Amino acid sequence: MAVLVTGGAGYIGSHMAWALLDAGEEVVVLDRLSTGFRWAVPPAARFYLGDVGNMDLLAQVFAENRIDAVMHFAGSIVVPQSVAHPLEYYDNNTSKTRLLAEATIAAGIKHFVFSSTAAVYGDQPDDTPVLESAPLQPKNPYGQSKLMAEIMLRDAASAHDFRFVALRYFNVAGADLQGRTGLSTVGATHLIKIAVEAALAQRSGVDIFGTDYPTPDGTGIRDYIHVSDLVEAHLRALSYLRRGGEALIANCGYGRGYSVLEVLQTVMRVSGESFDVRYGPRRPGDAASVVANATLARRLLDWTPRHDDLELIVQTALAWERHLMERKIGDLRELQQRLATAAF
Ligand code: UFG
Repeated sequence: MAVLVTGGAGYIGSHMAWALLDAGEEVVVLDRLSTGFRWAVPPAARFYLGDVGNMDLLAQVFAENRIDAVMHFAGSIVVPQSVAHPLEYYDNNTSKTRLLAEATIAAGIKHFVFSSTAAVYGDQPDDTPVLESAPLQPKNPYGQSKLMAEIMLRDAASAHDFRFVALRYFNVAGADLQGRTGLSTVGATHLIKIAVEAALAQRSGVDIFGTDYPTPDGTGIRDYIHVSDLVEAHLRALSYLRRGGEALIANCGYGRGYSVLEVLQTVMRVSGESFDVRYGPRRPGDAASVVANATLARRLLDWTPRHDDLELIVQTALAWERHLMERKIGDLRELQQRLATAAF
């Protein structure tokens, strides 16, 4: 049987595709390449170019492959973009998840793993690690769009022979330890990506969004989780569903938070480079502190994170950024050579 990975050319999806292949699974990737890259898909995966909302294509993918589980990563993830373009987010994250769930159920596929987010929690009354049972009060359309998808999956699981695990990701960062893939998105807005770009002189510095939060140093606190631990949680979710596990929504994080300033200091220390840090106003839609209580995933999915180490996260992110820079130089050389040949 094969696993369908939507968004498998993107950041987390490409790590998932590699991890599934490492685990001996057959992998089918569906991606429209809006932010992902064809080269990020492992060569051993079967690739379909297209949109997860295209029902004809989904029917074709399900007919041409023996798929027993869908892992749905495709989606839009930039919080400020969701504030500016809410309807795009409801379309891409909510409506298309509905279509994919419908096609999955119609094809008789019973297992579904969904990329949800800590953004469903918004600001919480205190700063203790958040449990799945905490009030759900997203502060932005991104969080709302994912929460609505969770609700649809829950109701579909009650009505049909269909079970799902939704993993609420905290702040995913770092790159594959074997250097096969990483965060390659052009114009990514994630703090660690931005900071490693600054350390490698790919940008002029880093703006801190807000210094007046009710946190010890005034900057936002997040629970940064290594992408390899996150994809491991998905593998566990897949075995859980195949064993007959019930519908489940679980947090994925380490249970410890770092402030923006602490992250920037770590990037400077690990890279040995310093860069400009500019103190600015808060970014719309941001919560002050978002830290996971992931006891449920540890207990029910038997998930044990192995890379709970901010320095390691930063090291792998730096290594991948260097790889991207070399890749760009390589592409440029190839272009120069082609131009030179064309001239003669
Ligand atoms: N930040 C800065 N400067 C930057 C970028 C970020 O100060 O240039 C700050 C943010 O204000 C926030 C922290 O760094 O306090 C982390 O910001 P990110 O943009 O890296 O991540 P978010 O916490 O906004 O969002 C991420 C994912 C979402 C996910 C969420 C869960 O992008 O998909 O974590 O908390 F939902």
